[in-house]
Amino acid sequence: MSIAGASQVVHARAPGKINVFLKVGKVMADGYHDLATAFQAVSLYEDVRAYPADDFSVEFSGPIDTSGLATDGSNIAIKAARALARKSGFRGGVRLEIEKHVPIAGGMGGGSADAAATLLACDALWGTEATKDELLGLAAKLGADVPFAFTGGTAIGTGRGDQLSPALAKGQFQWVLALAEFGMSTPDVYRELDRHRDRHAQDIFPAETQPTVEPNVLQALRAGDPRMLAESMHNDLQAPALHLAPGLGRVLELGEANGALAGILSGSGPTVAFLV
Ligand code: C5P
Repeated sequence: MSIAGASQVVHARAPGKINVFLKVGKVMADGYHDLATAFQAVSLYEDVRAYPADDFSVEFSGPIDTSGLATDGSNIAIKAARALARKSGFRGGVRLEIEKHVPIAGGMGGGSADAAATLLACDALWGTEATKDELLGLAAKLGADVPFAFTGGTAIGTGRGDQLSPALAKGQFQWVLALAEFGMSTPDVYRELDRHRDRHAQDIFPAETQPTVEPNVLQALRAGDPRMLAESMHNDLQAPALHLAPGLGRVLELGEANGALAGILSGSGPTVAFLV
């Protein structure tokens, strides 16, 4: 994430992501699933500009249709700004302008990136001087993917996906994204996975207690080797998402039949990412 400021506006940006590997373990006491994932940031960014204001507001612009996004207190960027104000004791507000480039409700962490960049921009605008750990703590409360949007790069996420450790990566991976015209709800996809596991409890292995990222994935990222990565990519949410939206199966077939090294559902979908 990067940040640039003038006296009356602070500009921060945070990236979208692809989970090149996502293994979902058991449901934990808090209702979240224990997971192991490999995140990689992509060169699609959310640009957040924060201006001084008495209350909290957000407006959106950019190349994608943002007309369906909530701009009230239910928006994750407003939640992020309010959370930081509460934590720091800041009594004013902020006017947020967000230029969106990450597909909405697509499984690429666009909302999480809005929240992460908002935390950083407001911290700088208000001079709250929160530590990185404090901001990461707020980020984790806002959503499981928000800490990764804060750090970017390539990282392994465990727990809810919010316990991060950096992973080595080199080179560049090129992706083609197939965007859907509909969004998918992350809780629905997780619920469908649970239902599938319950239905087939007799026939499939039980969910792992402590899922891990497979060594081949880490090696492919370290080597910057797209062919090796294509062979080792995996997403446990893909099957339940395809169950809910069967048309995505045809999208995956189409991409692979047209020369992609491999396709994978991004996060909980419905964006399909093809490694090329
Ligand atoms: O934290 P976030 O708002 O991104 O999570 C959305 C939903 O996804 C959660 O309410 C939960 O249903 C599901 N989830 C999960 N296990 C995770 C991450 C998300 O069950 N590790």
